[in-house]
Amino acid sequence: MQYTVHDFETAARAKLDPVYADFIAGGARDEITVRANEAAFGRLQLMPRVLRGSTERDLDIDLFGGRASLPVLLSPTAFHKLVDPEGELATARAAAAAGAIMIVSMASTVAVGEIADAARAAAGGQAPPLWFQLYIQPDLEITEALVRRATAAGCSALVVTVDSPVLGAGERNRRNGFHDLPPGLRCENLVDLRDGERGHVRQIAMSPELNWDHVDWLRRTTSLPILLKGVLHPEDARLAVRYGVDGLLLSNHGGRQLDTVPATLELLPEILAAVAGRVPVVVDGGVRRGTDVAKAIALGASAAGIGRPVMWALAEGGEKGVRRLLELLRDELDDTLALCGASGLRDLTPDLVRVPTWGPAPGPVAAPGADNRFGGVIA
Ligand code: FNR
Repeated sequence: MQYTVHDFETAARAKLDPVYADFIAGGARDEITVRANEAAFGRLQLMPRVLRGSTERDLDIDLFGGRASLPVLLSPTAFHKLVDPEGELATARAAAAAGAIMIVSMASTVAVGEIADAARAAAGGQAPPLWFQLYIQPDLEITEALVRRATAAGCSALVVTVDSPVLGAGERNRRNGFHDLPPGLRCENLVDLRDGERGHVRQIAMSPELNWDHVDWLRRTTSLPILLKGVLHPEDARLAVRYGVDGLLLSNHGGRQLDTVPATLELLPEILAAVAGRVPVVVDGGVRRGTDVAKAIALGASAAGIGRPVMWALAEGGEKGVRRLLELLRDELDDTLALCGASGLRDLTPDLVRVPTWGPAPGPVAAPGADNRFGGVIA
C-alpha cells in the first residue's frame, strides 16, 4: 500500500527494468540539482495560523480561463508506454478524473488527439484541462503542424520548453546504453507531420539556434496561451513577459538538463519579483508532499507540477496508480490547509512560510561540505 509519494517509487522499482527506473530517476551529470530540488522544500518551514474557524477547504484554481480542481499539474514526461501498456491514455484518464491539468509531452507514446479523447471520456464528456508541451523545431512548418494537432485535440495552452538547446547529459542512460525507445514504441505526435510522409516518424530535434524571435513567431502563430518552461534567470523572465508570453513554468527539468542550477523553489521569489504579477508562475521540481504544494503557493506560485511521481505511480499501478497518487496529494494538501488555518488556496500567504534562521538545515544534505542552505541566508 502506498502511504506517501515515495512509496510509489519503491513499489515501481520492484516491477521495472532497472534501465527504465534509471531513466526516470536520473538527472544530468552529478545530479546535484535533482537532490537540491527536493531538499529545498524540506528546509522551508511552515508557520500555521490557528483559530480561524474554517471547516472546508477550496482547492480549485483558475488558469487561463480554465478551471482545475487541484493545484497540482502533471508536468510533461515522455514515453509513458515504457512503464505501462496504456501509457498516456491511463495517465490522462486519471488526471481528468482528479480534475488536474495534464501537460502532454510532445514525446508522448500515444498521439495527443487520442489522449484528449480518453481524457474527455473520463471527464464525463466535458473538455478536460489538457495542455501541450512543445519543443520548437528548427523546421517551423513542422512546429506549426504540431501546434495545429495540439489545438485540434483541444489542448488549451502550449508549454514551450526552452531549457534544452542540447539534450542534458543523463549519465545513467549512457552507462546503461539506453538511447532509443524499444521496438513498437514511437513518439506518436511526430508521425506523418508533413504531406507525403506516410508512416514517417520524425526525431525530436533539440535546437541550439532558438532565440526570442522564435517565441515572437509562435506568439503570432497561435492564439493559445503560451507558457515558457525552463526560464531560470530573472532577466529572461522579464523578457518573456515583454515577448507576450502568458505564463511561466519555473522548472529546471527536474535536474535533467544543466546540473548545479538552483532548486526551483529557491528561485521562485526572484522570478515572481521579475514578472511582478503580470503573468502566473507555476513551479515544478522536487514536489513530493502536500506541504510542498502549499509552500510553493504560499510563496506566490499559482500551482505546482510533478514529474517523476507520475511515472512511478503509472509504473506501479497504471491508471489506478496515478489516481491514487493524485488523491494522496489532494488529501495531504487539504490536511496542510486545515493545519495552517486556511480555508482555500488564497489563504496561503507568504507569512506562512519562513527560512530557518539557526541550527543545522533539516533534510538530506546534497554532498559532504556542500553549502545547501535555503536562500543562502542561514546564519
Ligand atoms: C521529464 N521532463 C520533461 N520535460 C519536458 O518539457 N518535456 C519532456 O518530454 C519531459 N520528459 C521527462 C521525462 C521524465 C522521465 C522526467 C522525470 C522528466 C521534465 C518534467 O516536465 C519536470 O520538469 C520534472 O520532472 C519535474 O521534476 P520532478 O517532479 O520529477 O522532481
